[in-house]
Amino acid sequence: MRVNHDIDALFNWSEWPDGLKSPDGLDNPGFQSLKVAAIDALASSELDWKIHLTRAMAYQWCSGSLGIGAGIDRKPPDRPGRPDKPALVAPTRLKKRSIRSQRGRIALLHAIAHIELNAIDLALDIIARFAHPGMDSPGRRNSPPMPRSFFDGWVRVALEEAKHFSLLRQRLSQLDAEYGDLDAHDGLWEAAQSTGHDLTARLAVVPLILEARGLDITPSLLVQIREVGDVESAEIFEIIYRDEQGHVAVGAKWFRFLCLRAGLDPAATFQSLVRRHFRGALKPPFNDMARARAGLTPGFYRALSSAGT
Ligand SMILES: [Fe+2]
Ligand SMILES: [Fe+2]
Repeated sequence: MRVNHDIDALFNWSEWPDGLKSPDGLDNPGFQSLKVAAIDALASSELDWKIHLTRAMAYQWCSGSLGIGAGIDRKPPDRPGRPDKPALVAPTRLKKRSIRSQRGRIALLHAIAHIELNAIDLALDIIARFAHPGMDSPGRRNSPPMPRSFFDGWVRVALEEAKHFSLLRQRLSQLDAEYGDLDAHDGLWEAAQSTGHDLTARLAVVPLILEARGLDITPSLLVQIREVGDVESAEIFEIIYRDEQGHVAVGAKWFRFLCLRAGLDPAATFQSLVRRHFRGALKPPFNDMARARAGLTPGFYRALSSAGT
């Protein structure tokens, strides 16, 4: 197989779990376009296959063998394909356990694995749904298509979410558990559903609210998991924390791009879209440093905080 340094840099092979550290099987052409690849991966309910399709999509996009496929008349599914388990229940029915016990750590790893699986599907959905020109905002159907570098960013996000999910699945299996053993909730997908028609709103809610929340929470989780001596899980959280800063940065970059293109003030637009499309207040404390490094400055989110500052 041909060596491609861009692909090696994109995949970061050594960070993947055993069995996924090489490009074997990823160059098999067969996708009609990036959009079709994203729809196929999104629709897949078999998790190994969803991961494979996401990796193959990224590999083929990066090697230059896929077009965007904006003119292809296939729509993404309203809901992603998922296995029968875990059962999706109300968030209030999920038990919280101390991570001092192995059962508690399994519950934490399972909850984060579920978030990462949602994150794969949310990134795929952005690629699949907004590959059409003119889908960036209601009332502006004729706006120009998004540039290729927009798709570069979201392909990277989808791939890294697939890596995060795969690492957590491997860690769960090391602890004699597997994804699907415990219940989960559907909050992340529900939060994204009302923005299926509006890319600016989708970017406000998914990377700039939901993923930015991960930046607030992960450092203290890392401290706790290190305190109980779970080095293997801590290493995974470190990878996730580093990559997620990049995901918020991709969101912030393209959110600003769309605002600039439409002549809108980014912070004011963000606040109005979040108030319209996201239920619930933003909870401090915020990781202002990590958020700012990703381009999400306090002027965006402070006014929305439940602390009212
Ligand atoms: Fe992630
Ligand atoms: Fe992410």
